[in-house]
Amino acid sequence: MSTGPFQFMQTNELDSIVDSARDAFAKAQAPAELENAKAQFLGKSGRVTELMKGMAALGVDDKKVRGAAINLAKQAIEAALVQRRQALADRELDVQLKVEALDVSLPGRRRAAGSLHPVSLTMERIEQIFASMGFDVADGPEIETDWHSFTSLNNPPNHPARSMQDTFYVDIDGDDGIAYNLRPHTSPMQVRYAHQHVKKYAGQPVMPEIRVIAPGRTYRVDSDATHSPMFHQCEGLWLGENVSFKDLKVVFTDFCRTFFESGDLALRFRPSFFPFTEPSAEIDIQFQTGPLAGRWLEVAGSGQVHPTVVSNMGLDPERYLGFAFGMGPDRLTMLRYGVSDLRLFFDGDIRFLGQFR
Ligand code: PHE
Repeated sequence: MSTGPFQFMQTNELDSIVDSARDAFAKAQAPAELENAKAQFLGKSGRVTELMKGMAALGVDDKKVRGAAINLAKQAIEAALVQRRQALADRELDVQLKVEALDVSLPGRRRAAGSLHPVSLTMERIEQIFASMGFDVADGPEIETDWHSFTSLNNPPNHPARSMQDTFYVDIDGDDGIAYNLRPHTSPMQVRYAHQHVKKYAGQPVMPEIRVIAPGRTYRVDSDATHSPMFHQCEGLWLGENVSFKDLKVVFTDFCRTFFESGDLALRFRPSFFPFTEPSAEIDIQFQTGPLAGRWLEVAGSGQVHPTVVSNMGLDPERYLGFAFGMGPDRLTMLRYGVSDLRLFFDGDIRFLGQFR
């Protein structure tokens, strides 16, 4: 049997180990620190483990008594460990909940659904209608050469007709010696597209007709309620061996009536002048109903492609002829939606733009 003093010392020693374990656990502020503290007591060479090893030398009875006491101490330490683990985990969760707290009373940040710009809607509509009539849709540069913008269109340097368009000249002291401008109309696309087309079918027995529209941005030195320095045009060109002014009338009338969904829309081809067409005509439309009824409204310039332009396309003007037109999608958009000031299209006010869907 163990003696009284021995037991007393033993118990005291164990109690103090348990106390210091509780202290060490309480000081641990993070799970990793806690596991380190655990090792000091319950690890391979921890204090409790060392006590167990020390029992080897004891007699059977002492082993029983001391073993039971050490086990109690070990259980107390393990209980303290589990408790501290839970406390640390709870605290971590609390912090996380606070950090990730969601104030459900805050209004959400919505991602607004955008909408197409009204002029883009018009462009798409124009493309669809002409595509249904077999027209290709072509795209070209906004910074254009002087030759494409004017000269190729039978508008040579110093010709008075050039002053019809207040062009932005791009001052490039080009190595290439070519004068550039911001294209004042989409008409340069007539010659550009024709060149591509002629090249594509070179050497083939039959060249298909040229039937194309070229929508895009155009520029002029002009700014008021109905003019913007940047605006849009859509060129049209139909060239073949047997294309006449009558076809222009049919195609454009069909287009306008479809575009405005108005079967009784009237059209007027008013004689005019462009260097690149002969004869030339302004195209006016007239609604029979609605707020604009009865007024003639100009929507396009047009005419039979001038023989000089046909030559510049690389085609024989004795063989190929046809018509071209240039219309203003901005104007068409204003008429379709009843917008009175062109500048609204380019101010970027979403209260205005959001109305077109
Ligand atoms: N390019 C002309 C303009 O901007 C319009 C036009 C195009 C006229 C094609 C005739 C033929 O006013």
